[in-house]
Amino acid sequence: MAKAATKSKPKAKAKKSAPAKGGVPQRPSKLQAARTEGAARFKNVGSAKLSINNAAPVEFPIYKGIEGPNVIDISKLYASTGHFTFDPGFLSTASCDSEITYIDGDKGILRYRGYDIADLAAKSDFLETAYLLNYGDLPNPKQDAWFRHSITYHTLVHEQLHFLYRGFPRRAHPMAIMVGAVASLSAFYHDSLNIHDPAERELAMLRIIAKMPTLAAMAYKYSVGQPFVYPQNELGFCENFLHMMFATPCEKYVVNPVIADAMEKIFILHADHEQNASTSTVRLSGSSGANPFACIGAGIASLWGPAHGGANEAVIQQLQEIGDVKNIPHFIKRAKDKSDPFRLMGFGHRVYKNYDPRASVLRKSCHEVLKELGQQDEPLLKIAMELEKIALNDEYFIERKLYPNVDFYSGIIYRALGIPTALFTVLFAVARSAGWVAQWKEMIEDPAMKIGRPRQLFIGSAPRKFQPLPKRK
Ligand code: CMC
Repeated sequence: MAKAATKSKPKAKAKKSAPAKGGVPQRPSKLQAARTEGAARFKNVGSAKLSINNAAPVEFPIYKGIEGPNVIDISKLYASTGHFTFDPGFLSTASCDSEITYIDGDKGILRYRGYDIADLAAKSDFLETAYLLNYGDLPNPKQDAWFRHSITYHTLVHEQLHFLYRGFPRRAHPMAIMVGAVASLSAFYHDSLNIHDPAERELAMLRIIAKMPTLAAMAYKYSVGQPFVYPQNELGFCENFLHMMFATPCEKYVVNPVIADAMEKIFILHADHEQNASTSTVRLSGSSGANPFACIGAGIASLWGPAHGGANEAVIQQLQEIGDVKNIPHFIKRAKDKSDPFRLMGFGHRVYKNYDPRASVLRKSCHEVLKELGQQDEPLLKIAMELEKIALNDEYFIERKLYPNVDFYSGIIYRALGIPTALFTVLFAVARSAGWVAQWKEMIEDPAMKIGRPRQLFIGSAPRKFQPLPKRK
């Protein structure tokens, strides 16, 4: 890890997870976020009439949520018209109702349980945010102590997991290890996988949030051939993670507070993002009744793609490929060329057609961190800033509303913090696990839950007769 000089101490934000004095903190009575019952969740605000080829119109109810566009409930469309809707990529389809995260992509708004993301990034820490996502409210001091204690005391993983890691090649990508390692937790906790028991669901949530950093740090240690480092209970969440990543048995490792603070911020920003590809994967996997560890493993696989969480790694690889500010016009030209599949990584977003609010927070933090670490002259940052400037002024990007997204800056910050590039998406997964379990729980706790089963428009072969092998041309 890069030795980072600390010029000034940042404000100590993240609370330590040390065991509470006077015994184990009391558990809050509620196990889950309260949900409004069934149809009372949405207001019926009218109806949409659909007439297919001049047939008598069929009516569908329109629901209003708290914010965001109204939705047309087409669940009875097939039964009443014999038609399916066709919406590949879910461009106009709400796959569920949710109380967790709200995004207004046109206005650049992101809120967790009603709290603005910039406010949380400035004032909260990752564990408090994880509590908020999972229980619906910010914790009071008693709940806060209980949650920190519970997470801290679930960070250890079964020793047998070491052997699973040893089965991987040393050069394995850490995301490949994470997909397997997280799903494998279900083998260790097969006695507490009853998804219909609220206490077991809560336990799974605590285990997932707590063990993700341990498993991620182990993936890193394994790749560099160093011994695994056990969690330290007196450290805060991100401090402990950094310790497990960079400590060795040879010398004392002191966590740089600038680095821990920047990581808390990035983790808050990545903790949830409503129904994105990986979260939808977690929900779809979970809708069959699959256990939560397997579902989170599926979510990690989905996150790995370069169009999603893999973008932070791809941003750095691309900046390295650009190599020099003078080469930027060539790459901008490639990004605009429709016959070239090349895309500027870290630009564009399916939902944000205004600045990504997470990118606004991280843009500022990126400059602060690099200054704090004495890396403001870092050549890759220079390329990144120039790229950002050109893209923001170029007609192609303006017209398509392609702004830098969260991954544009998180990759640069992680690099400055000395995190290896292959680990960037793993860090995204560690943070997003808080949102994944919150979304999974919300779905399971919905009395109206159904297995997810999309339909299709079949465009394959019409019926044909089987020909025996000798007769085939
Ligand atoms: N570079 C160049 N052109 C782009 C880019 C880009 N990064 N992103 C979109 N476009 C163009 C695209 O070619 C299309 O142009 P046209 O209308 O002329 O055909 C137009 O913009 C719309 O693109 P799209 O592919 O229809 O948009 P989408 O909503 O399906 O894709 C995206 C969103 C994030 C997959 C895409 O913008 C992209 O591939 N970006 C780069 C990868 C990236 O940074 N991903 C991280 C997203 S943030 C982390 C997260 O939340 O997961």
